[in-house]
Amino acid sequence: MSNDPLLQPYKLKHLTLRNRIMITSHEPAYPEDGMPKGRYRAYHVERAKAGVALTMTAGSASVAQDSPPVFNNILAWKDEVVGHMKQLVDEVHDHGAAVMIQLTHLGRRTRWDKADWLPVVAPSHEREASHRAFPKRMEDWDMTRIIGDFADAAERMKMAGVDGIELEAYGHLLEQFWSPLTNDLEAPYGGSLENRLKFTFDVLGAIRKRCGPDFIVGLRYTGDQDLPGGMTKAEGMTVSQRLKDSGLVDFLNVVKGHIDTDPGLTDLIPIQGMRNAPHLDFAGEIRAATGFPTFHAAKIPDVATARHAIASGKLDMVGMTRAHMADPHLVRKIIEKREDDIRPCVGANYCLDRIYQGGLAFCLHNAATGREETMPHDIPAAVTKKRVTIVGAGPAGMEAARVAAERGHAVTVFEAADQPGGQIRLTAQDERRREMISIIAWRMAQCEAKGVDFRFNTFAEAADILATNPDEVIIATGGMPHTEVLGQGNDLVVSTWDILSGDVKPGQNVLVFDDAGDHAGLQAADKISATGARVEIVTPDRSFAPEVMAMNLVPYMRNLQHRDTTFTVTWRLMDVAREGNQLRARLGSDYGDFTRERVVDQVVVNHGTRPLDELYFELKPQSSNLGEVDYKALTNGRAQAVARNPAGTFRLFRIGDAVAARNTHAAIYDALRLVKDL
Ligand SMILES: Cc1cc2nc3c(=O)[nH]c(=O)nc-3n(C[C@H](O)[C@H](O)[C@H](O)COP(=O)(O)O)c2cc1C
Ligand code: SF4
Repeated sequence: MSNDPLLQPYKLKHLTLRNRIMITSHEPAYPEDGMPKGRYRAYHVERAKAGVALTMTAGSASVAQDSPPVFNNILAWKDEVVGHMKQLVDEVHDHGAAVMIQLTHLGRRTRWDKADWLPVVAPSHEREASHRAFPKRMEDWDMTRIIGDFADAAERMKMAGVDGIELEAYGHLLEQFWSPLTNDLEAPYGGSLENRLKFTFDVLGAIRKRCGPDFIVGLRYTGDQDLPGGMTKAEGMTVSQRLKDSGLVDFLNVVKGHIDTDPGLTDLIPIQGMRNAPHLDFAGEIRAATGFPTFHAAKIPDVATARHAIASGKLDMVGMTRAHMADPHLVRKIIEKREDDIRPCVGANYCLDRIYQGGLAFCLHNAATGREETMPHDIPAAVTKKRVTIVGAGPAGMEAARVAAERGHAVTVFEAADQPGGQIRLTAQDERRREMISIIAWRMAQCEAKGVDFRFNTFAEAADILATNPDEVIIATGGMPHTEVLGQGNDLVVSTWDILSGDVKPGQNVLVFDDAGDHAGLQAADKISATGARVEIVTPDRSFAPEVMAMNLVPYMRNLQHRDTTFTVTWRLMDVAREGNQLRARLGSDYGDFTRERVVDQVVVNHGTRPLDELYFELKPQSSNLGEVDYKALTNGRAQAVARNPAGTFRLFRIGDAVAARNTHAAIYDALRLVKDL
């Protein structure tokens, strides 16, 4: 038996959890028709197979019709959920993991125009900044109805065979009762802390009455709202104690902060560049004060910190949630003493930001996550071993090399630079985004272990490729910034890459024209403004940096907003002309024949990249498939079989930005889904 603190079993009431690592509740927006079906099940089963002790399914599964999902949550108020959950629970149990579900009523944290157009309810009319709905102030029959809804949903889950449930309090209806900021009801549900807690205890009481004393019930809540006028740490401690003393709950799942704004949410769930485990000590204080089973997650991405959390007695169960999105086999690798093989979560938060945009949660650099039905986490060995030659060692090329090597092929990678990374290396030059380089470093280590032949400092020509006598050639050469977007003055502007690489020194009075709306624009603006320069970010879009998304925007804003930075939306850069030692920039509008002018000393253009595809087109006539991809086969998980040129000696493919400017996830997914079948 291992003496690793992380691998010790934990007894929660009658339930034995096989180790101390859990996945906390997180809605990846995978339900179909509000139900956890195939994709959902496969996602949790993959992690159960690999050894996680407890997976808390759903995220904010809705208990009532007037709590419509904001990001495609499970509808726990429908009876049909029982069958779907039972199938998921049974399969997870088959692999030895415990499975629970998080239930909630969102209160004001949703919108009235989402599903049945019922009014949003809360214990006051105060709206939440993030979701914008002005709520109805709850009346007596709302309380009675929702208490019943919680009990009904809990009973459905018990029927489905879950090991327990967790109620989501923070930011949602339960906490909206707790906080003086969102509860202006009279007694018995408003006023003193005791009154503000009454709704929660009524809900818990109803659940106990329905599900009995043995059913495991926990609460996920903030022990300190960290908001002026909100619930203080002292009150949070009182609440923790009261929860324990009530005898109605079996565990506390503690977070710290508030989620009513994007910055608040980002402090509660920190992203890359922010401190690791920022709220661990706080959770430890609650455990020490209550002596009650305490769970917690907030950017504990590495095994060493997780181990410390358990060994130091700060937590009973440590949540490694995004870490499991990045690598579902994390626990197995700990057990097998292969911690170095764990694909690291780099805190890119692509997963979480996507669900708030209405998308499915995908991991920036694990394209199999959420696609377990079609994409393998363990790459199967190929029957026929081949010679695979890859050009470019950015994310697409490195993923292609890793997957090809896992298949057992002999792999050669050409790279013009002296090290791998491509665009990611540029991104990671920023100290705040340094974690990104692990996307490359992990792949490099995996490739080296499999004997991939890297040829750095080599600008590969067609002859170099042919000299490797390849069966398959994959062009992953990426792209170069495209700045030629102006009527006049293209020669007077620089690209964001010029700024990020340090090739061009930032000016003093700079216009950043950003119509790509991705990280490069803001990252350049951040770097320029840090020198004390004046920066104006101009975009023709309705909002700036739409591709960066909500939580990723927060660190940029924290840097930019207090510096000399202006944000100008709905204007497009038309021309730039020299004027003495300055530049005159003319802005135009898509909305009409309007113009404005700016005089600056530097213009930076962010307009994405254009593919570096010369080598591809040179090789194309010599390939057997003439570069063609069978999209039906690609998307249906079948091997490529296009044959167009009998004289061709190799097949040729192009992936990532060498095809068209997209993002890191697209590049990695291109590589995985093509190469897994080569
Ligand atoms: C895609 C996604 C959805 C989430 N949804 C929920 C949710 O519905 N309820 C909840 O309590 N936490 C939710 N979380 C927060 C996680 O449970 C966890 O607290 C957070 O990811 C921090 O832990 P980590 O750093 O180990 O990922 C979500 C997280 C992610 C990544
Ligand atoms: S997208 Fe980023 S934060 Fe989310 S799991 Fe993947 S690496 Fe981690």
